[in-house]
Amino acid sequence: MSAEKWSVLFHSTSGYRRNAVSFTYLLLTIDFASHISLNLFILRIVKKHTKLKIYPATTLKQLTPHKDLIFGRTFTDHMLTIEWSSDSGWADPVIKEYGTLSIEPSASVFHYSFECFEGLKAYKDKSGRTRLFRPDMNMKRFNNSAKRIALPTFDGNELIECLKSLLRLDSHWIPNERGYSLYIRPTLISTQNTLGVGPVSQALLFIICSPVGPYYKTGFNAVRLYATTENVRAWPGGTGDAKIGGNYAPCVRPQVLAAEKGYQQNLWLFGEKHEITEVGTMNCFMFWKNEDGETELVTPPLDGSILPGVVRDSVLSLTKSWNEFKVSERKFCMSDIVKASEQGRLLEMFGTGTACIVSPIKEIYYKGQDINIPLDANDPSSNAGPLAKRLADELMGIQYGEIPHEWSVIV
Ligand SMILES: *Cc1c(COP(=O)(O)O)cnc(C)c1O
Ligand SMILES: *[C@@H]1O[C@H](CO)[C@@H](O)[C@H](O)[C@H]1NC(C)=O
Repeated sequence: MSAEKWSVLFHSTSGYRRNAVSFTYLLLTIDFASHISLNLFILRIVKKHTKLKIYPATTLKQLTPHKDLIFGRTFTDHMLTIEWSSDSGWADPVIKEYGTLSIEPSASVFHYSFECFEGLKAYKDKSGRTRLFRPDMNMKRFNNSAKRIALPTFDGNELIECLKSLLRLDSHWIPNERGYSLYIRPTLISTQNTLGVGPVSQALLFIICSPVGPYYKTGFNAVRLYATTENVRAWPGGTGDAKIGGNYAPCVRPQVLAAEKGYQQNLWLFGEKHEITEVGTMNCFMFWKNEDGETELVTPPLDGSILPGVVRDSVLSLTKSWNEFKVSERKFCMSDIVKASEQGRLLEMFGTGTACIVSPIKEIYYKGQDINIPLDANDPSSNAGPLAKRLADELMGIQYGEIPHEWSVIV
């Protein structure tokens, strides 16, 4: 046999062997045919977060009766934790029993406030499905807050998938009653054990969940505000647009002082003209007839000192889609409110945020006087204006899956 022929034979034989090998694979696959579709199905689910490790709690806690729920006091059985280091990046996410963290007292979170957080809710719809409301916006904001204080950034979509796993495990903690929900608190802290002020090389991201009752147990409760001229919450170039721990503790004493005077919240102002910024930890809206006689809904623009609220964005989006009145993001001052009040042009004012959706405002203390803010002209007993009520209804309808909308994400 010529060398050439040998070579042809050799090649065809090895080719046959290759085929035989793939044929064996095929047989093996067929052998498991009964499991194939199931396996592929499981693979598809697991593949997305193969790295997620779940260690279920050995004993489950007793659920708190709905009527006894107090905001942020009760926590579910599990939590999600993800460690990060500058050397190896994000470690595998872990879901484990809710419990204490072990952190050294030197960790820079305790000294320089390397901390940012989020607040969003999960809702049970009428068919018992769990729903999130625009979680992508919270993840984007979380990522931006982290970046602002030199903490590591992350892939928001991956984190939503991990959160969904946590919610599936603790699903029975989400009260299936309208108005009730599960408050979700993602948090990112520096765990670096050194006292030098500088970039962080170790961090911990965790998510804990707390079942909560309706913000308003007996209908709306309009608030009285203290327009604060002694303290400033945020300023251009500062960190007011980031949800970082450092922004919140300094606002508590002014709130205590306002409460002593009989006002529930601070109306935060900025600058010599006393521009309106936020209400407590909510975004602020004014509905009025402006100087040109137009009906207008106005909220301060995102100039760096305003927290970009998810509800703020949703209110702007919804009211624009109604196309019934002018909707503006622009600055307005205390003098605008005073003048509009004197001329009877004020229609409503309210705060917005995840906890309450809308919080109607009935009075603002400013320079020694209480300015009366209208609620519902047609119903003097009402504690909310028609616009605030309509927005709360529509947003709750979307959150609880009664109004189909792309903002509501099924878990
Ligand atoms: C969280 C927060 C809001 C509201 O944001 P939502 O995403 O609508 O809940 C508004 N202002 C401040 C200062 C906040 O911390
Ligand atoms: C998170 O922030 C980083 C840094 O700004 C950015 O590159 C990344 O796209 C962001 N990811 C998400 C999901 O927002």
